[in-house]
Amino acid sequence: MFFSRFYRMGAHTIKSLVQAPTLTPRTSYLPVVHNQYLQVLRHELFSSTTAKLESEDGNEEKEKINVTFVEKDGEETHIKVPVGMSMLEAAHENDIDLEGACEGSLACSTCHVIVMDVDQYNKLPDPTDEENDMLDLAFGLTETSRLGCQIIAKPELDGLRLAIPAATRNFAVDGFKPKPH
Ligand code: FES
Repeated sequence: MFFSRFYRMGAHTIKSLVQAPTLTPRTSYLPVVHNQYLQVLRHELFSSTTAKLESEDGNEEKEKINVTFVEKDGEETHIKVPVGMSMLEAAHENDIDLEGACEGSLACSTCHVIVMDVDQYNKLPDPTDEENDMLDLAFGLTETSRLGCQIIAKPELDGLRLAIPAATRNFAVDGFKPKPH
């Protein structure tokens, strides 16, 4: 494909030079043809490489998953979260009321969320000992509780639903009934 494009460009360049009225002696346009050929080739090689890099970057930037936060009053907020971003960061970027007092350094439990779908919960990596220690301090702990700062968006989590617990032990959000941990 590359060589056929190369030869097509060459044929076009030669044809336009032969038709040019200013170049009469056949021997005088050989160096001109050679130089123009190289210029066109350089331009084509350079511009196609740049376009490829730009499109690769663009695809990476656009990869996002759908996440729904169910807030304390039952209100649902649907957001798009870039792959690699934590749910705490995503909540803050979208003005969702998830506290996160220690800003993700595993020194609090205020970013506690409940994964509402067990299948989605099972797709998460196991919590570390540090996360479990903090979860033990959280109000309303359930079997699918996690810390929002430790849930990182990845493609398999598309459609994730997270409930933000109210600060009481007996809570129910949008009909979701948590079980004791
Ligand atoms: Fe403190 Fe997540 S923000 S542990």
